[in-house]
Amino acid sequence: MTKITVTVDGTIYTDDVEPRMLLVHYLREVVGKTGTPIGCDTSNCGACTVLMEGVSVKSCSVLAVQADGTDVTTIEGLAGSELHPLQRAFHEEHALQCGYCTPGMIIAAADLLRDNPHPTEQQIRQGLEGNLCRCTGYSNIVRAVQRAADAESVGTASVTTGAGVTS
Ligand code: FES
Ligand code: FES
Repeated sequence: MTKITVTVDGTIYTDDVEPRMLLVHYLREVVGKTGTPIGCDTSNCGACTVLMEGVSVKSCSVLAVQADGTDVTTIEGLAGSELHPLQRAFHEEHALQCGYCTPGMIIAAADLLRDNPHPTEQQIRQGLEGNLCRCTGYSNIVRAVQRAADAESVGTASVTTGAGVTS
């Protein structure tokens, strides 16, 4: 077992984990962040995407020990006291059906908008190409990201929650 300390959604967690444990399993089974789903076993779908040090990563392709000392934001930590502009835009544009891809889509879109606050449709499609959706045909997802990009607050929305310490 290896001891790791990871900040997840603003809370510090210190745990002993197997060196082979994947970050997504750590988040779901140890930390309890079940808002991050597992959609495949081939690192293809992007459903498990989280921000690690502010950069989107597929948490099924990262070992928990690699997250030691980092700051991780899941879909559950994206909202502050109210929905993140991307969460609101996905709701308003009906950008989900089953919702399985949605946490990863929103996290990937948050990373995209941080780098490029006003992307073109083509840039949105390219930015989200690592995230698969079986239901929507993507059009409403692209519209939702455009809508969030137009929202004045998107660049300043909180991506963390209050800090605490657990073990
Ligand atoms: Fe991680 Fe599919 S569960 S990419
Ligand atoms: Fe079902 Fe995207 S809404 S996979």
